[in-house]
Amino acid sequence: RREKGDPEVNDLWQWVAVLEGQLRRLQKAFSQYKKEVNVLRQRVGILEGQLQRLQNAFSQYKRAVLFPDGRSVGEKIFKTAGSKKTFQDAQQICTQAGGQLPSPRSAAENEALTQLATAQNKSAFLSMTDIRKEGTFIYPTGEALVYSNWAPQEPNNDGGSENCVEIFPNGKWNDKLCGEQRLSSREV
Ligand code: IPD
Ligand code: CA
Repeated sequence: RREKGDPEVNDLWQWVAVLEGQLRRLQKAFSQYKKEVNVLRQRVGILEGQLQRLQNAFSQYKRAVLFPDGRSVGEKIFKTAGSKKTFQDAQQICTQAGGQLPSPRSAAENEALTQLATAQNKSAFLSMTDIRKEGTFIYPTGEALVYSNWAPQEPNNDGGSENCVEIFPNGKWNDKLCGEQRLSSREV
């Protein structure tokens, strides 16, 4: 049996005191942490509400602005100016307005653009040409086509100089003279 004042027991008492101190600090830190988590939860809730309201306002805004001459598909928006222009003029109008002529890259995008052409009952110019290499249509970026919807027998380079592409109101594509006047529309 050890006596009171035994140095080993005193060491243990000291150790207990140290551990109690550490426990108190940990408890305090934990309660601060829980408070912070609650504050953050509240803020996230507020932000979620704001995001929801913004999303609602944005979808309302799109519906208002896109009627009747615009279509939204995925992250792309097509909008027509309603007037007919040569390829060069249509291209210039688009790029000046911070966009480009339409490049439908999927059936869904082609369908959205078709709706505009149908509504206007006009064929519209697309962005792609085979000016650089006859028979090879490319986007303004130089990239090869990832999607096409040529009408039967097209592209046929009729007369030897059809380097632009029009989309008919039925959605099919035809290579056409760039100097013809076609519906001018833009994608952003
Ligand atoms: C042509 C034809 C042809 C097509 C050309 C068009 P047009 O029309 O529809 O099938 O490939 O692009 O220009 O000039 O004979 O009225
Ligand atoms: Ca053609």
